[in-house]
Order: sequence, then C-alpha cells, then structure tokens
Amino acid sequence: MMRVVILISGRGSNMASLLAATASGALPVEIVGVVANRADAQGLATATACGVSTRVVDHRLYTEREAFDAVLAATIDDFAPDLVVLAGFMRILGDSFVRRYAGRLLNIHPSLLPAFPGLHTHRRALAEGVRIHGCTVHFVTPDLDHGPVIVQAAVPVLDGDDESALAARVLAREHQIFPLAVRWFAEGRLHLNDGRVTLDAPQDGSGVLIAPPLGGG
Ligand code: GRF
Repeated sequence: MMRVVILISGRGSNMASLLAATASGALPVEIVGVVANRADAQGLATATACGVSTRVVDHRLYTEREAFDAVLAATIDDFAPDLVVLAGFMRILGDSFVRRYAGRLLNIHPSLLPAFPGLHTHRRALAEGVRIHGCTVHFVTPDLDHGPVIVQAAVPVLDGDDESALAARVLAREHQIFPLAVRWFAEGRLHLNDGRVTLDAPQDGSGVLIAPPLGGG
C-alpha cells in the first residue's frame, strides 16, 4: 500500500478524517507517520491514539527556514513515504523542500483557490460578501496556495454567517474532499500536465468522479 506522511500544526481534524477513511477501508493507503511543527499540536494525541508514529520538528529551534526544512525533510524521509500531505500545516515551505516532493505533496486550503490564498480565508470571504465559498485540495508548488487544483467543494455563504459558522460549513467539506483526493492519488488516477490536473475514470467504469454532494459517498 502507498505510504503517506501527514504534516499538521494544530487540531488535526483533516488528519483525523484521513485516518478514519483508512480505518473504514474507504482510503487504501497506510498512514505511516504524522509530523508536527509544534509539540502542543492537538492532533498528535489523535494520531497516537490511532497507533500512528508521531514526530515533532519545532520550527522555533531554527533561525533559517532552510535549516528547518532540511530537518523536516529528513524526518519525513525516515518514514519513506510515497505521498506527503499538508493538513493544516501552518509553515511556509521553501522551494527546495517543495521541489524534493514535487508531484507527491498535497495541501488542503479553506477557500476556492485562486480566491483567498493565505490566512483568515473565512473572514475575508465574509468581508468581500461572496455568496459561494469552499475549499480546495491542490498539489503544492513553490507559489504559495497556487498549485494545480485537484478537487474543490463549494458551500453557500448564508445571511447571518459569522466566521465560525462559515468555517464549520467549509470544514465539513474539507473532511470529505481530502480523503477523496488522496484516494485518487493512491489509485494513480491523477495526472499533472502543464500545471493542470486530470483524473482518470475509475477502473470499474462507474464514471468520472467529481466532488459529490455531502453525504453522497
Ligand atoms: C483547515 O481549515 C485547513 O484547510 C487549513 O487549516 C485548517 C486546519 O484544520 N489549512 P485541522 O487542523 O485539519 O482541524
């Protein structure tokens, strides 16, 4: 099975959704390690409870980004992963780190990219008055939050939404599309051409999948 390492910085609910999908059989990969840049990341306890090895590489111990990135890469490579997944990992990674994992580094971002790259996406979506918001799983490139899009899910912005209500609506879709994108990767169905992603039809001929509605499988 494909070996996956997940990088987190905090709560780890996206990581938990990937672990749950592997446990249920919906995601045929082995999550071999979870790496956090903070020892107090809540998700570390969740990973440990699921029997997954964890490591901490504390970014505060390194004054240069390259030094942090190098130790992070060595820590990841100890797990010999086929795929590295950023699940709420809140450090910007340097070009050489991104190049090292080119084509096998995925990120989830809480907006419909290319709208709202960076931080505070829900607050900014509310401030702009957009009616449709959402989340994106994409390949990571050195250009922050601009890598080739794999899958997106949209949610409405409702009158009366505050940041946390909107965040919760988006997060429910994050937990759906991240395992889906990782499964497509594991099945070898994702192809990158000229910065765009294509998805092979499933081998059982059941039709090309795009993000199904919530609860739709
Ligand atoms: C998610 O909204 C993710 O899209 C963003 O950071 C948040 C992490 O949440 N990059 P969690 O740690 O997965 O619960």
